Amino acid sequence: MAQFWKPGTEKPRLVDDEEGGVLFFSGGFSSSSSSSGYGYASIEKQRQRLPVYKYRTAILYLVETHATTIIVGETGSGKTTQIPQFLKEAGWASGGRLIACTQPRRLAVQAVAARVAEEMGVKLGEEVGYTIRFEDVTKPDVTVLKFLTDGVLLREMMDDPLLTKYSVIMVDEAHERSISTDILLGLLKKVQKRRPELRLIISSATIEAKAMSDFFGKRKKRRELENEENGIQLEPAILSVEGRGFNVQINYVEEPVQDYVQAAVSTVLLIHEREPPGDILVFLTGQDDIDAAVQLIADEVQTSKKHSPGLVVLPLYSGLPRAEQELVFSPTPRGKRKVIISTNIAETSLTLEGIVYVVDSGFSKQKFYNPITDVENLVVAPISKASAKQRAGRAGRVRPGKCYRLYAEEYFLNHMSNEAIPEIQRSNLVSCIIHLKALGIDNILGFDWPASPSPEAMIRALEVLYSLGVLDDDAKLTSPTGFQVAEIPLDPMISKMIIASNQFGCSEEIITVAAVLSIQSIWISGRGIQKESDEAKLRFGDHVTFLNVYKGFLQSGKSSQWCHKNYVNYHAMRKVLEVREQLKRIAQRIGIVLKSCESDMQVVRKAVTAGFFANTCRLEEYSHNGMYKTIRGSQEVYIHPSSVLFRVNPKWIIYNSLVSTDRQYMRNVISIDPSWLLEAAPHFYLLQQSNPLH
Ligand code: CDP
Ligand code: MG
Repeated sequence: MAQFWKPGTEKPRLVDDEEGGVLFFSGGFSSSSSSSGYGYASIEKQRQRLPVYKYRTAILYLVETHATTIIVGETGSGKTTQIPQFLKEAGWASGGRLIACTQPRRLAVQAVAARVAEEMGVKLGEEVGYTIRFEDVTKPDVTVLKFLTDGVLLREMMDDPLLTKYSVIMVDEAHERSISTDILLGLLKKVQKRRPELRLIISSATIEAKAMSDFFGKRKKRRELENEENGIQLEPAILSVEGRGFNVQINYVEEPVQDYVQAAVSTVLLIHEREPPGDILVFLTGQDDIDAAVQLIADEVQTSKKHSPGLVVLPLYSGLPRAEQELVFSPTPRGKRKVIISTNIAETSLTLEGIVYVVDSGFSKQKFYNPITDVENLVVAPISKASAKQRAGRAGRVRPGKCYRLYAEEYFLNHMSNEAIPEIQRSNLVSCIIHLKALGIDNILGFDWPASPSPEAMIRALEVLYSLGVLDDDAKLTSPTGFQVAEIPLDPMISKMIIASNQFGCSEEIITVAAVLSIQSIWISGRGIQKESDEAKLRFGDHVTFLNVYKGFLQSGKSSQWCHKNYVNYHAMRKVLEVREQLKRIAQRIGIVLKSCESDMQVVRKAVTAGFFANTCRLEEYSHNGMYKTIRGSQEVYIHPSSVLFRVNPKWIIYNSLVSTDRQYMRNVISIDPSWLLEAAPHFYLLQQSNPLH
């Protein structure tokens, strides 16, 4: 049983980050200091109560007179939902121009766009719209406020490098330092030189405005003078929005917990038992542990009378069907207590009303890339102090709250890092480099990055792109392959697989595989290992299973019962259909002929190899526990238990991605014949110091 404190029996300690005072989320503008009101006030009243409302004139003045305005404000102060509206009201969307607001997360894009449309009393997709990958809810010539992911805006630059249709671009959640945000910031700085009239707003929830300001302030003298003549100041303006918020009492566990899911569940039940009403927000890491926690609480409520009804438990992660997302924002029913179990999406990207208690596991899923082994994987890793403070802050929005940290105070004080490392410094750079190349930026090393990626990671990425046939000897995009790959909004390895499928005559099948791989998972969680009767189907791997599922789904007339019976997530399959249609259109646009190979799975596997050869692994000969080694970096990896090849262990396989828990697991694997590797990427495999294929 995990250790956890017992609220009510132990004396709570009020601890500040460094000094040991009170963690205080400033009380700035709480004009109505009570927790009353949000649900009942009119939308206009609600808007006026938000902290940014008081800064409306200041914000508009700064945007008018400065090329770049940096706005810092506590989560929930109204940055995302209000500032774009202020800009529109002030005329920035007149004359056919648009206002863009970017978010690192897709789910946040949808949620804030829906909220803003509601506030403006318009239908989503008309004046207010959003675009995320594979989903465009905007209307040409009608939409003036556009919410989009930073990745989608990067894509738009490929058609319109100066982003000429936008008058103002608000790069929101800049503190998250997602890889796309960083690339975007570097590019926008360049765009501004050519388009001095473009206005940028960089908004964030934490106070590292200085670094951003230095980045945008560092310019060439001549330009500065030129623009002074235009009356627009190039030196960025910084505005700090005083947030409303209440004290949050921080509680730590005495001893490190063994199992944070179990500990989080126990804590929720204790809060429910002993603390006055107020919703609970729990931070876990991903769909797996969130679903597990939801289930554990449900079980507990069922078996013990003590916890009686009263609890409404809701998961929150990207990839959740829309209807379930909306539940999270709906008011808590009378006499009930809402428990939202979330990834770090609720840390700053989404504002949830009514949260009084926060349970912080201290972990999140983070991407890590090792350029030496060329392995990128998602790891459950400790969060930073900055994140921990943000998480705690979520408890103090409506009234004084409490935060329960599932880690010891000593750990927080002495071992947690202050800030997270920007994603660009812990990612594989293959996509990033293709993007920059496609935009004509050849000197990648000399690019003006907000934070420079490591030279090793860059060299690795250049190597892979060269082997994929995307870059030529001069590191320029090849024609047509390089340009085609850049055109497809997917991981370059998937794009290359699609292009290769043309030559193998299996584009129909490969596009289905690509659509499935772009969805988090098509399975219902908790699905056990499938005992398929047809052993032959199993032998080849997950990609082939995806094709069978897709076929079955179509044959069933796209039936949800069929999905249920086969442990397939119906919503995910609908999404696959949508994505597939879009990919088909893109494929046709770049000259791929749609063709089915019927049941010839060999060509499908060859096409996969053509894209993913860099992810090849070989079974260790004397391994009795299914250990594989990656061909490139000799990393120890295992087939994920959810794979159809789990325990089948073919000698040669290719994986799609790695996830790290107690071991490095390969997700979505397919068996191959090693001779295909030399065909697919001769440079890649022949240039290895000792050719591992022999
Ligand atoms: O961006 P920031 O964190 O500064 O705040 P925001 O997302 O603009 O949220 C401002 C207010 O809008 C919050 O207090 C929420 O009450 C409300 N909101 C909402 O009710 N539903 C949403 N989907 C988004 C925001
Ligand atoms: Mg926001």
